[in-house]
Amino acid sequence: MINVDLSKLPEISPKDWQSELSAAHEALLGGTGKGSDFLGWLRLPEAYDRDEFARIQRAAEKIQSDSDVLLVIGIGGSYLGARAVIEFLQGTFYNLRRHKLPEVYFVGNNLSAAYMAQLSEIIGDRNFSINVISKSGTTTEPAVAFRVWKQKIEEKYGKAGAAERIYVTTDKARGALRGLCDKEGYESFVIPDSVGGRFSVLTAVGLLPIAAAGVDIAELMRGAADMMKLCLSPGQQNPAWQYAMGRNAMYRAGKRVEILACYDPDFVFMAEWFKQLYGESEGKEGKGLFPAAVSYTADLHSMGQYIQEGRRELLETVVLVEEPTASITIKQDAENVDGLNFLAGKTLPDIEYQAFCGTLLAHVDGGVPNMVVRMSKKDTHGVGQLIYFFEIACGLSGYLLGVNPFDQPGVEAYKTNMFALLGKPGFEAQGEALRARL
Ligand code: PA5
Repeated sequence: MINVDLSKLPEISPKDWQSELSAAHEALLGGTGKGSDFLGWLRLPEAYDRDEFARIQRAAEKIQSDSDVLLVIGIGGSYLGARAVIEFLQGTFYNLRRHKLPEVYFVGNNLSAAYMAQLSEIIGDRNFSINVISKSGTTTEPAVAFRVWKQKIEEKYGKAGAAERIYVTTDKARGALRGLCDKEGYESFVIPDSVGGRFSVLTAVGLLPIAAAGVDIAELMRGAADMMKLCLSPGQQNPAWQYAMGRNAMYRAGKRVEILACYDPDFVFMAEWFKQLYGESEGKEGKGLFPAAVSYTADLHSMGQYIQEGRRELLETVVLVEEPTASITIKQDAENVDGLNFLAGKTLPDIEYQAFCGTLLAHVDGGVPNMVVRMSKKDTHGVGQLIYFFEIACGLSGYLLGVNPFDQPGVEAYKTNMFALLGKPGFEAQGEALRARL
């Protein structure tokens, strides 16, 4: 279960927010707000295509049976969710653990040749499959990566053999990838028109890589569906209302940065996914909390100083997993040279919990209001809940902020410049003007 604790924020009167939250909720559920063409994720945990879901499960089993490595090609919303769930549930060391599941690597999320060369070396002559994911089918980074890896996989297995190992997740009709699927006969999955990239983790975009990594995706969907039932009903008991209210109240009070913190190192990519979800949804029209992330306790020794005493424009949200997934007890030591016998009999989760409590109070005392999102357990069901919670809270929060949370017009600016500088036909004049400025 997900529970939002606002007790460490300056007092907020829920009554003052009731009518704005009700209006945001109605606009979201009724599809009358900005960007309402992109609300396909809202009821997705129940209203998903069962046949396609079964095909995803079968494809994942095939990948598990014939591949040592799955290469996932995608960027932004087309990779962060899958990586987040795999690392959070299967652990940061997933690829190094001795299991029979395929290792999963992500490529096409940068333009680094060194990164690609390292991946080539890691895969070596082992068997691999590719899942290329792009809603538009035209994004440069994954398109370039796919061109490179398509050649490699065809060299290894021949064109026909490669076609059996390439899985495409893209738009149902548009884009270069769709055309390629039709031409080459790749197995393909659909990103619904009404689901934007950063809200697509519970579509084939996230589900195929997640399932290939051994996660029970039916359970993930059940978790999301449970949270959906809770969050679709309006009222102050709704955790998404509480979170959206808390962060908007702090924004209006002058906070400008929201730091998402977690004490679980496996959470790092969940935080990356969160950053995209909130950054791309709210950062527009000169508005929005800047979403940042820290991993505790590591970052208490790097960012902790700034958080405690730097510019007082920070809001901190801690995701706290309540039930530990492992435990180690500190033993008594006869010599006690390290002076740690006061910890004897305590477990690492006990120590970590006190680190959380101490940090929470220190940061609040230092002028950083804290919200705590408590997650009772880190399991597949709970992660499904957490994903849906953050998604719907993001929609509500964007409406409270007064922006369209479902578009991303600002992402185009760099792309246009890059195409112009690379000499893409049609961008010649712009390219010249840009080069003159460099
Ligand atoms: O949220 C979004 O829409 C973006 O982050 C996209 O996911 C990202 O730009 C990748 O786009 P595409 O899937 O079309 O390649």
